[in-house]
This record gives sequence, structure tokens and C-alpha cells, in this order.
Amino acid sequence: MKTKFTAFVAASVDGRISLDPGKSPDWTSREDQKFFHAALAKFDAVVVGRSTFEAARKSLEKRNTYVLSSRPTKIDRTGLVTFVNPSRADLRKIFEKHTAVAVLGGGRVYQTMLDEKLMDEIYVTLEPLIFGQGVPMFIGGTSTAGLQLLAARKLNHAGTLLLHYKVTK
Ligand SMILES: NC(=O)c1ccc[n+]([C@@H]2O[C@H](COP(=O)([O-])OP(=O)(O)OC[C@H]3O[C@@H](n4cnc5c(N)ncnc54)[C@H](OP(=O)(O)O)[C@@H]3O)[C@@H](O)[C@H]2O)c1
Repeated sequence: MKTKFTAFVAASVDGRISLDPGKSPDWTSREDQKFFHAALAKFDAVVVGRSTFEAARKSLEKRNTYVLSSRPTKIDRTGLVTFVNPSRADLRKIFEKHTAVAVLGGGRVYQTMLDEKLMDEIYVTLEPLIFGQGVPMFIGGTSTAGLQLLAARKLNHAGTLLLHYKVTK
């Protein structure tokens, strides 16, 4: 059985996912939050970066969460939370026992999972905002990935867009 990897991103129109790395975003629409929480129920594991974990520790500790960090020298598990250093571990092997893994960011995590070919689909929620600053959606890429748009849906009157992509290369 092949593990399916799906990324979820909420972004401003200028492609920013956070204005403050220490805080969970408080600018996403109610409609996106509803979609995100319903979608997440279908996943048996999530992967996040250390900053995202620290910003949302309380809810992430309740599910199978893999936290990427350069700090651990070995795979380090406490309760449902596993800290993994990607340069010292085989990410594909770590996730193979799960059926559906949600990739929840931040920017370096999205890029790492994309580069490792551990991203099959991406949901991008575009909120009608321009930040002009903040954390970019993907960080540190070295090659261009191709996407196919599977669906596009307007979530509310303000114009929040939910885009669903398949990663093609
Ligand atoms: N809008 C959204 O959809 C969305 C999604 C996710 C997060 N966010 C927000 O974005 C902000 C955090 O994002 P961020 O991009 O600054 O941080 P992040 O990706 O959550 O965390 C960055 C940290 O994760 C570790 N890390 C990530 N990739 C790694 C890799 N390949 N190898 C080793 N370590 C790796 C490193 O930790 P060490 O320093 O321990 O090495 C790095 O400093 C928060 O505000 C969060 O709430 C928003």
C-alpha cells in the first residue's frame, strides 16, 4: 500500500503563510478553517516544522505528528509526537506505515517534502489579502515542480479560493 501525501497551505495572494513564525495564523477565513478541520480527520499522520509545532503544540500533540528539525541525532518519540532530522533519516521509510499523511508546513517542510517526492496533492487556500512580508509558502527550492489543477472553488463572498492540485513532476 502506497502512502498518500497531501499538503495543506493557507496563503495570502502574495504567497505568504505567516506574519509571525511564533504564532498560528489568525487571518484565515472561517470557511477555510472549517474545510481544513474536516479534511484533516481523514489523515492518520501529519508532518510539520519545529516552529509550526511550537505554535500549535496543544492540538498537534493529540495526533500522530512528525516534527522536522535539525536538532535530533536520532528519531525521538514522546507520546504521539516524533522528532525527525531529515538529514539523518529516511523520510519515505518513516511514513510507510501510514496511509495518508497531511503535510502542514511551514515553508521549509513543504519544500523538503516536495523535493523528496513525498507530496502527491496540494490544497492551497488563497485568502484575499496581500501581506508584502512574512514567511513564503515554499523555501529553499532548487528545481521547478509541475502541478495540475484538479479543482477550484470559491469559499465565500470575500473571494477566498480553494485550489486543489496534483503534483505532476
Ligand atoms: N498558513 C499556513 O498554511 C501555515 C502552514 C504551516 C505553518 N504556518 C505558520 O508558519 C510559521 C512557521 O513557518 P516556518 O516556515 O517559519 O517554520 P517551520 O517550517 O514550521 O519550522 C522551521 C523549522 O523546522 C525545522 N525544519 C524544517 N524543515 C527542515 C528540514 N528539511 N531539515 C531540518 N529541519 C527542518 C527547522 O527546525 P530546527 O531549527 O529545530 O532545525 C526549522 O527551523 C508559523 O507561524 C506557522 O503557524 C502557516
